[in-house]
Amino acid sequence: MEEAIIDQHFTSDEAFDSNYPVYIRELSEIHWTPLAVIKVAARYLGPNEGSKVIDIGAGVGKFCIGGSHYAKGTFTGIEQRKNFVRVGKKLIKELGADRAALLHGNFVDFSLAGFDGIYFFNSFHENVVLADSLDELIDRSPELYDLYTKHLLSQLTQAPVGTRLATYWISTGEIPGSYRLVSSHFDTHLKLWVKDH
Ligand SMILES: C[S@@+](CC[C@H](N)C(=O)[O-])C[C@H]1O[C@@H](n2cnc3c(N)ncnc32)[C@H](O)[C@@H]1O
Repeated sequence: MEEAIIDQHFTSDEAFDSNYPVYIRELSEIHWTPLAVIKVAARYLGPNEGSKVIDIGAGVGKFCIGGSHYAKGTFTGIEQRKNFVRVGKKLIKELGADRAALLHGNFVDFSLAGFDGIYFFNSFHENVVLADSLDELIDRSPELYDLYTKHLLSQLTQAPVGTRLATYWISTGEIPGSYRLVSSHFDTHLKLWVKDH
């Protein structure tokens, strides 16, 4: 697809989301990251061609596709809902977003080794507030929240010094003390961090 035509998809969230089926569009306002936030986070996490960024709980790939549009790195998402992965992969193909990819799986079985940028949009929240669930298709429970959060903390702790992290809509207390807050944006909902020891 020509660059000018691709740019049209990024003129607003509504324009971008219109690429998705209606039931996916309806989830956007609450569950998918807005383009303006993606632009800031992606340029921090994936500034160079060699940067490798992971989105933990990637949904339909909005962050990964948008990230690859705004920044130079590669953007991979891990997502447990198979239908979201299918929808996201279709759009990646249609837009020719060849630095974006989606993997189907549960984060609890996934290692962050090899990624130097990590994006996390409070993905495990639906386990503790069932009313905020995206659908009823997967198991959700406070026990799963604890399991996933423990795995995230362990992976963040093992990551090398210099690893960049962007969090959206999470409380500061959930991040290990080895990560230093670099800056906050969008009413402090987006926080940029770096592991410095
Ligand atoms: C708030 S949405 C964010 C989507 C995407 N990161 C974005 O910003 O547009 C959270 C996503 O995380 C996924 N998710 C939650 N727990 C997961 C897990 N343990 N493994 C993989 N995906 C998970 C959900 O299915 C949902 O699609």
